[in-house]
Amino acid sequence: MTHKPRETFGSRMGMLLAMAGSSIGLGNIWRFPYMMGKNGGAAFILMYVIMLVVLCLPVMVSEYLIGRRGESNPFSCFDRLAPGSKWRWIGFLAVLASAFILSFYCVVGGWSVKYLADSCILAFSDAQGDYALSFGTFISNPWKPLVYTLIFLGLTGAIIVFGVRKGIERMSKVMITMLFIIIVMVVIRSLTLPGAMEGVKYMFVPDFSKIAADTCIAAMGQAFFSLSIGCGTILTYASYVKKEENILASSAWISFFDTMFAIIAGLAIIPAVYSIAYMNGVEPDVSAGPGLVFITLPGVFSQMPLGNVAAILFFLALLLAAVTSAISLMEVVVAFIIEEMRRSRKKAVALCFVICGVVGAFCSLSFGPLAGFKLFGLSLFDFFDYITSNIMMPIGGLLLAVFAGWRLRRANFLDEFTNSGKLRIPRWISLTLYYLVKLVAPIGILLIFLNTFFS
Ligand code: PFF
Repeated sequence: MTHKPRETFGSRMGMLLAMAGSSIGLGNIWRFPYMMGKNGGAAFILMYVIMLVVLCLPVMVSEYLIGRRGESNPFSCFDRLAPGSKWRWIGFLAVLASAFILSFYCVVGGWSVKYLADSCILAFSDAQGDYALSFGTFISNPWKPLVYTLIFLGLTGAIIVFGVRKGIERMSKVMITMLFIIIVMVVIRSLTLPGAMEGVKYMFVPDFSKIAADTCIAAMGQAFFSLSIGCGTILTYASYVKKEENILASSAWISFFDTMFAIIAGLAIIPAVYSIAYMNGVEPDVSAGPGLVFITLPGVFSQMPLGNVAAILFFLALLLAAVTSAISLMEVVVAFIIEEMRRSRKKAVALCFVICGVVGAFCSLSFGPLAGFKLFGLSLFDFFDYITSNIMMPIGGLLLAVFAGWRLRRANFLDEFTNSGKLRIPRWISLTLYYLVKLVAPIGILLIFLNTFFS
């Protein structure tokens, strides 16, 4: 029972853009290109698409369906659909996962604020050609990255405070539209550089010899992270969705949009890296890992014509993408605080800012003064990244699918899925999806999961 009528999204377009905004983020621009670089280019894209259709789409449909039917934050959503059961603790786990993700996500969000500021004042040249050193010096500084982390978190909170329609929906619409226009401009610049086509070839000609067990796991983790599934964000957004929306169409649309964007972001980055390597007569290094965006790219921008403009646009795009994802993460925690702890939206945002700010500060410091502190052999930042993307999200996804496929009765699943029969979805499609949710997705996730930890 909530004390105020719940807000809903105002329009279908707004809802879709908010969900797409959650999915499109650092995962697409920062993580996807280097994961692809490490795992064999097109071969990785292929695996990714398979994971997406077979495992992630069913999980997304489950999460969407549970959120819309339960009309609440993850904790009480499960409580409403399975009263008195332990399932609500899964909801609580999702809230916790979102808070953890937000805590390390806002550190990288902070880096993008700093790189945007630097590109505006043309400060890349300070690096005197050593971009790795300048990035390393920045992230290991005890204060600077911390301040940027808090600026990023504050920016996110400032949007969330305005609520679902005026905050999340309105800002997602504006920011995602800007993001698309900007990234297309950067793609055009990147593709028109000499030698860029080699990079395109790398992205689209698969090398099947590179497909290994590792590629599978990497592709699954990337797909979960990129689609924002398994940790309650889709569930929370879906709880603000009107009953007449088509769950399958929305989920498919968001997955498609997110994947297209990852490929477009790849086209903005990989060909530019190839081109500059070609001009310098060296081998392109697209597997540079997390440093690809913050080390390799500033070097690329500094060497290309109109590089300053491209750098400003690129880091602005990175920031917009990061903010629209961070708001979805914060909303999970905020909705939980508002509804379960009975606090106002303002207080909930403030509390979330403090909690994630403190955990985020530790993550940020783990690149500097706390570098020697390890949990299970990982720095704090890597620890939160690892346990959320590789453990909490896949387990969350698995349990969401199990709940939708086994705990909700088949009649209820199909009732929600077809909007009580109002949508004319052919029965074979509904049933195929039902069995993907009930059997294929849980078994698939479990197998990949076991393979990761016991092989
Ligand atoms: N999908 C976001 C990205 O690709 O950057 C990250 C993310 C957002 C993960 C929201 C999880 C989440 F709940």
